[in-house]
Amino acid sequence: MRGSIGRGRPRRARRYGCPAARQPYPSPNPIPDNRTYLDGKWIDSDSGKLIAVKDPQTDAAAYHVQACSTDEVDRAFVGARSAQQEWARTPLWKRAKLLRDTAALLRQHCAPMAECLVREVAKPRKEAVTEVVRSADLLEYCAEEGVRRLGKGDLHLSDAFPGADRTKLCLAQRVPLGVVLCIPPFNYPVNLCVSKLGPALVAGNSVVVKPPTQGAVAGLHLARCFEMAGAPPGLIQFTTGSGATIGDYLTAHPGVNCISFTGGDTGLSIARKTGMVPLQMELGGKDACLVLPDADLDLAVSSIVKGGFSYSGQRCTAVKLVLIVDTADGTFGDELVRRVREGVAKLTVGRPEDDCTVVPVVSRSSADFIQGLVEDAAAQGADLGGEFQREGNLIRPLLIDKVTKAMRLCHEEPFGPVLPVVRCASTEEAVELANSSRFGLQGCVFTRDIEQGIRVSDALQTGTVQVNAPPARGPDHFPFQGFKTSGIGSQGIPNSIDLMTKVKSTVLNLATASYTQGI
Ligand code: G3H
Repeated sequence: MRGSIGRGRPRRARRYGCPAARQPYPSPNPIPDNRTYLDGKWIDSDSGKLIAVKDPQTDAAAYHVQACSTDEVDRAFVGARSAQQEWARTPLWKRAKLLRDTAALLRQHCAPMAECLVREVAKPRKEAVTEVVRSADLLEYCAEEGVRRLGKGDLHLSDAFPGADRTKLCLAQRVPLGVVLCIPPFNYPVNLCVSKLGPALVAGNSVVVKPPTQGAVAGLHLARCFEMAGAPPGLIQFTTGSGATIGDYLTAHPGVNCISFTGGDTGLSIARKTGMVPLQMELGGKDACLVLPDADLDLAVSSIVKGGFSYSGQRCTAVKLVLIVDTADGTFGDELVRRVREGVAKLTVGRPEDDCTVVPVVSRSSADFIQGLVEDAAAQGADLGGEFQREGNLIRPLLIDKVTKAMRLCHEEPFGPVLPVVRCASTEEAVELANSSRFGLQGCVFTRDIEQGIRVSDALQTGTVQVNAPPARGPDHFPFQGFKTSGIGSQGIPNSIDLMTKVKSTVLNLATASYTQGI
């Protein structure tokens, strides 16, 4: 199964001007080497320990970050609580201004942040730049949406309810929850951090961030941008470190008022333990792509190639299962598979610095897991369409045909560049198979019949269905949510602002119903 990958084979990673590389830094305001950000200061952990951030290309340490202790987690919550009380009293327009000023700094610091993403999580260079720019856009939108949404409330009149007179006027407004614990994933360590911080902060919350270890340095750059934009000490606390040491301690902390988590099954165990803390969670998916016989084949092919393999399939919204509603003789499926494989063969495979589409996956354990799924499918007779090739964490992309329900690849999420195809006899069978998944993030359907597209969308048990496009989270103001074990709570900027606030009512009680009296 193993073999060398000829084209674009990974070479020794070049060193870039990011902090731990100790090279000239292209920004005038670098983050202090290896430190983390607590109470407005860049500190060394009292644990005296650092943890390595590995470069996925080499498995060698690219950076080091502080291994925060549980005492520092306590400190983070105490500081965040105190800062939040003041922040909630800060005028809304000033809170929005912090987001806009940070967005401007993100644009200014885009290059060094993107370089960190290239090294820490092997993100293709252009996509790394896009992630930072998208984050700046998100913060700006959040500032506007926050002002619009939170700058008004509701007035309720008591005489709308049977038997009541207009003696009560209820003023309802949205108020912050308190301290929001934000846990972003490795694949979007900046953007999925900002998508939590922006709504939380504009709404008057403070945040404690537990960045993913791979992606932590880019996250600390983000903290530096907030600091330079004038965030008060304690408003944004970064607790870097090992999930095994501080993960449970963070999520079970009595100082938490809301958790926004993106990641894997860890979210399920967090949800079991958190009691009455509001949760916003996105825990992966097995996004199915249904191709019906009347589909625009060019569109379906390009969407499957892009949706399945960009960033090596390491997106929760990647296409993770192709369900072809095939003709009885199999010719429709054969043609689709042939054309997708042609597209896959043209993908660039190699280094993120060279902007390859297929890059090393994030870790050796991820690569091993993906290889295990492929070996299981191959052993049970799936058609790999070529040899499985892996060099370190770099896996050559494969479209794997004739996958059956008995194979792990049909149900499990590889988070890698291997995409299974199942041939189905009918749309009903395809929908049933898609719905048999424990996940329910997104799905997509390709058909020229828009009404059929809507019927399939109605039948699929996923938070979103894309008709004639691959799954995707954005644009970032759209609702984004998972059904079943894919998550809880809806995201997207407006929904996140709602989720990170609660309704507060003030009822004015009048002695007489005003409208029944003269002046
Ligand atoms: O990885 C999970 C993300 O929410 C997917 O976002 O659709 O913008 O790639 P994306």
